[in-house]
Amino acid sequence: MQKLREAANWIQAHTDLQARIGLILGSGLGILADEVEEARRFPYADIPHFPVSTVEGHAGQWVMGSLEGKKVIAMQGRIHYYEGYPPERIIFPVRLMKLLGVEHLIVTNACGSLREDFPVGSMVFIKDQINFMGSSFLRGPNLDELGPRFPDMSAAYDSAFRQMGARIAQKLEVNWKEGVHLAVSGPCFETKAEMRMMRLLGADTVGMSTIPEAIAAAHAGIKTLGIACVTDLSVPDKHEGVSHEEVMAVAERMKPDFIRLVKSIVRELP
Ligand code: HPA
Repeated sequence: MQKLREAANWIQAHTDLQARIGLILGSGLGILADEVEEARRFPYADIPHFPVSTVEGHAGQWVMGSLEGKKVIAMQGRIHYYEGYPPERIIFPVRLMKLLGVEHLIVTNACGSLREDFPVGSMVFIKDQINFMGSSFLRGPNLDELGPRFPDMSAAYDSAFRQMGARIAQKLEVNWKEGVHLAVSGPCFETKAEMRMMRLLGADTVGMSTIPEAIAAAHAGIKTLGIACVTDLSVPDKHEGVSHEEVMAVAERMKPDFIRLVKSIVRELP
């Protein structure tokens, strides 16, 4: 709590902007943060106690300003569990958002699709999640000021928020779906046997992120919308290998629709 307060105080000493909306931008999708107007941009390394991302495609900036007339905090690049940070460090940014007043969070990622009818290019609104990351992320002393020891996770993704997203996606004619997201710790992509298992367990998409942030947000009472952008097919019979370069290239092609969608959603938020 002390570290979170120091980070929040540092940010409040640098800007008096009050944001109610948080955006976490996944692999290759960080460009949306460039559209934030009258922005203050803080490299993660400048914020006290903030974990710094090491992954290519993650610029690593905390951006505060206006998007579609709304005050936002955008994370351009996130910290991944596979980088080696302890679980509580991964959720530090979401908790910091909470301290700064964020009430709605849009968390996004690049993911593999576990089903052929969720093709590459789909934007999947996450309706639920399966945590295969090997950590609950809330293990350790509870921060009672943020939320309860035993948080309910049965509605981790807000259904009204998701319906709003779906309505807007439909109007914009982007290729959208609704599904269950499963995350592994990574950095390995999944084996074919794992793809089969994940599908059997009821997952539609697979990635290496988003679940920690959704857990921290649920704990702290932040309403969350998850958007998983399908960059590759994790379907055994259709799978011809996947690479980070491919993920980034597809994310690049999805950017225009992704930006349109997220901006339109932000415009309608309180
Ligand atoms: N698996 C896990 N993470 C991913 C994938 C995938 O297929 N694609 C993008 N991130």
